[in-house]
Parts: sequence; structure tokens; C-alpha cells
Amino acid sequence: MIRVEGLTKLYGDFVAIEDITFSVNEGEIVGFLGPNGAGKTTTMRILTGFMPATEGTAQIAGYDIFSQSLEARRHIGYLPETVPLYTDMTVRGYLDFQGTLRGLKNPRRTNRIDDIIERMRLDEYADTLIGKLSKGYRQRVGLSQALLHEPDVLILDEPTIGIDPIQVVETRQLIKELGKNHTILLSSHILPEVSMVCERVVVVNEGRLVAVDRPENLSTRLGGADRLRLAVRGPAGDVAAALRQVAGVLEVEVERAPGGVERAPGGVEQAHRFVLVCRPGRDLREEVAALIVRRNWGLLELQPMGMSLEEIFLRLTTHEEL
Ligand SMILES: Nc1ncnc2c1ncn2[C@@H]1O[C@H](COP(=O)(O)OP(=O)(O)O)[C@@H](O)[C@H]1O
Ligand SMILES: [Mg+2]
Repeated sequence: MIRVEGLTKLYGDFVAIEDITFSVNEGEIVGFLGPNGAGKTTTMRILTGFMPATEGTAQIAGYDIFSQSLEARRHIGYLPETVPLYTDMTVRGYLDFQGTLRGLKNPRRTNRIDDIIERMRLDEYADTLIGKLSKGYRQRVGLSQALLHEPDVLILDEPTIGIDPIQVVETRQLIKELGKNHTILLSSHILPEVSMVCERVVVVNEGRLVAVDRPENLSTRLGGADRLRLAVRGPAGDVAAALRQVAGVLEVEVERAPGGVERAPGGVEQAHRFVLVCRPGRDLREEVAALIVRRNWGLLELQPMGMSLEEIFLRLTTHEEL
């Protein structure tokens, strides 16, 4: 439904995105994940026909967004990063206005609006001025606007950014429901966010594509419970060698980061931090602990490592360059 090939966009001589290629199949909900400045909005603005790419092509429902823009745009519902809403209009008034702009005639327009208001759970606020709504509800009005012309593809740019936690949960739920009969590309800079609603994730960083995978594979591949961090008092080389012998341990890194080496209290032997990369799905904590004790080293810390998004991006980008 969405095909992006070799998209590149320059702002002056600044490369905002470079050679981005991915596709979204019919009925999929795909997350478009990347830290701020990664190029998500740029890509989405190109995909929705708001600005041209410097190089590359994009197709929506088989139509080229540049040469068949009208047909392509009929298939797209777009929730921009900041939705331009008229604060002095009521929800229904605004949707009626947008529907008119879209060329929807009555009674279809009114029926469609009633339908969407119900679906987006805006009934209570249909006659409220948009200016009086919370950010979460405004976002729903934005989503409603994107649905007016019954598009089958939804492009949602950070739909949950800046809204309160309860609203986030509800918005996520709405997106999941929309996913039952729409193809959705949804951007976010928060991994757990996309993990909850998306079947696949396209990861970008500094304008480049760094991974396309299922969210659970991403976390398995990159961290979560499959990495253990430990601090051990003992000779670094011997400890690392012994750890490498443990079945299921794929990699042992001795951390040399500042603070990675400590002095044992009152002792002369140094403590080192190690990171073990373990075979996915294996919990090696007990085995590792037993080994350290058996060898008479000091086990000071042992914990499964969670990874921050920054670490994930760092890892993805470093891996790419290796
Ligand atoms: N109109 C513009 N002119 C110049 N640089 C821009 C413009 N829009 C975005 N950028 C830059 O392009 C990069 C990608 O921005 P953007 O697509 O908004 O990223 P994201 O949505 O992932 O945060 C950023 O470094 C941003 O500063
Ligand atoms: Mg953005």
C-alpha cells in the first residue's frame, strides 16, 4: 500500500533524509521510529504530497505521489505533527468545514461526520469549541479530519506526543481499532509506544534507515533481558574468559567507560563491569552467579539490562557501520 524507494531530501545542502526505502503492506500497522530530527516528519510530508523529494519515489495504493498526486492523495488520511485547528469552531462545525473543503456533499457529509464523531468517541464534545478541548481531544479531532474522505491509508505523525497518559492509552486504542480496516504508518520517538500498536517498525536515525523488523525482534536483538550487566571483583581477563565458556553466552564485553572500573572497598583487587550478550530467551543469571562464586571472585552486581532508546539507536547505527 505504501512503497518508498530511495527517498532523499535536501534542505539547501543539509541532508534531512537519505536513501530511505521501505514498504507497508495492506492492513499493516507500521511504526516509523526515530529520535527527534531523524527525518520522520520530512518523510511523511513527502509521502502525503506536501513537498517534493530531492530524489526517489513514493507510491500510495499504486499511485505515484508526484505524478499521480490527486489519485494518491485520495487514499491518504494525514495527521500532521501539528494539526492546524480552528479554535473558535465547534468540533462538528470544524469537521463540516473540512468536509466541504474535501468536496463531500450532504447528506453524505453529515452522515460521515456523525459516524466519525461516534467512532472517535467525541460525542460529548461535538458542540464544544475546539479551543476548550484538551490536547488529547484536539488530536482526536485531527484524526477525525484525516478520516473524512474515507481513506484506506493513514499517515499519523507522532499522534500521542504531548498528551496526558490516560489520553495516550485511549488514542492508542483508537489507532488499533482503525488498524482493523486501514493501513497505517505511525511515527514516534518512543520504542514502547510503537511496540504496543505496531506489527513492524521502520527505524531511522539521522536521516538514514537503520532497521526494519518486528518490535519484539528489535528488543531481542538489541537488549532487554538478553543482556546482563555485572560487576565482578577479580582479574578482568580471567573473569571474561570464564564467562565466555558459559553455554548461551554469545559475547562478553568488558566495560571501559568512565566508572566502569572500581576499587573494592578496602581491597586491592579491582572490580570490573561486564556486559554479557546472551542467546535470546536464555536466563543465565543463576549460572553466571554460581560460576563467579565457585571461582572465589566477588559478585557485586548482576542485572538484566534494559536499554534506553538512545542506546538502541546508537547500537543500531554502530552495527550498520561495522
Ligand atoms: N524546513 C526545513 N529547513 C531546514 N531543515 C529542516 C527543515 N525541516 C526539518 N529540517 C531538519 O531536517 C532534519 C529532520 O527533521 P524532521 O523530519 O522534522 O525530523 P523528525 O520528524 O524525525 O524529528 C532535522 O535536522 C531538522 O532540523
Ligand atoms: Mg517530526
